[in-house]
Amino acid sequence: ETHTITVEPLGTELQCREDQSILDACLRNGVWLPHACTHGTCGTCKAEVLEGAIDYGDASPYALLESERAEGAALMCVATPREDVVIEGDVEIEEGITMYPVRDFSGTVEVLDEIAPDVRRLIVKLDEPMDFNAGQYVQLNLPDGDNRPYSIASAPHERDRVELHIKRTENGVATAGWVFDGLAVGDAVTLSGPYGKFYFRPGREKPLLLLGSGTGLAPLVSILKTVMAIEDDEDGDGWEHEVVMYHGVALENGLYDRQWFQDIADERDWFTYRPAVSREECDGRQGRVPALLAEDFPRAGGNVAYICGNPAMVEDTMRALMKARLFPRDIYREDFFDAA
Ligand code: FES
Repeated sequence: ETHTITVEPLGTELQCREDQSILDACLRNGVWLPHACTHGTCGTCKAEVLEGAIDYGDASPYALLESERAEGAALMCVATPREDVVIEGDVEIEEGITMYPVRDFSGTVEVLDEIAPDVRRLIVKLDEPMDFNAGQYVQLNLPDGDNRPYSIASAPHERDRVELHIKRTENGVATAGWVFDGLAVGDAVTLSGPYGKFYFRPGREKPLLLLGSGTGLAPLVSILKTVMAIEDDEDGDGWEHEVVMYHGVALENGLYDRQWFQDIADERDWFTYRPAVSREECDGRQGRVPALLAEDFPRAGGNVAYICGNPAMVEDTMRALMKARLFPRDIYREDFFDAA
């Protein structure tokens, strides 16, 4: 059974099945609501339910407080309609940004390489091109019908392929059980996207700090490739700002694609690559990203920062940036959990 969802303040009406989240219905119908985890844990997709009954779904009590629920709020990524519903959400999209509707895609595994211990690069050749903003993610469908989120490491202009960096999790159904065991070049896969509110704002013409740990580097690679394309675009004005990328890993052999980044740094004078190895001596600097950043940037004002990593890394990096006088309006963050 489907119900009508009216999204205020736009007044847009769309159809949503009883087994479909209101967020999913909105994103597939071109109504963009802010969202991050899509699993009821982060609270980003909170909206007011003005009319109609919903099922609240699996909303974490930390992401949706009892008091908020009592006042009519719900998490759109897990809420499903039981009758016609009117919601009011934060539908405003920043100027200069186009958000693309979520769609289903099918494709074929073109590359599946181990690029570091327990990290694989999966490149899917899509049957139809996908539009997205650098930094966003897809949900990769597993053979058992479940799905997992992965940030896109390829750039939006490479529209007929998506590259994902996948970390193996012990006993993980998606990783140990599939991507690292059985999935092969030539296999058919399906996915949906694009998702997420972590995306590049190319219109903000300022120096960039790209701060990633582990496979949280992936969306930052998409941003870097986008900047390279802006520089190479013959009709454009090029790119004239510094870009400094940090990649934090525990062990040196986790620095995947190191030579590729190093080559870009050698070729393009605006780009600097700074590996950060925290748990062993290495050929380079030792330490976590927040510590090296604090050392390098006692003053960070004037930059725009994009952070993607595990919650502790993101939190500490935020703190280092704010201490260096870079404020939240210039910091975009993605809290990243390795998908099991
Ligand atoms: Fe994270 Fe809904 S709670 S997107």
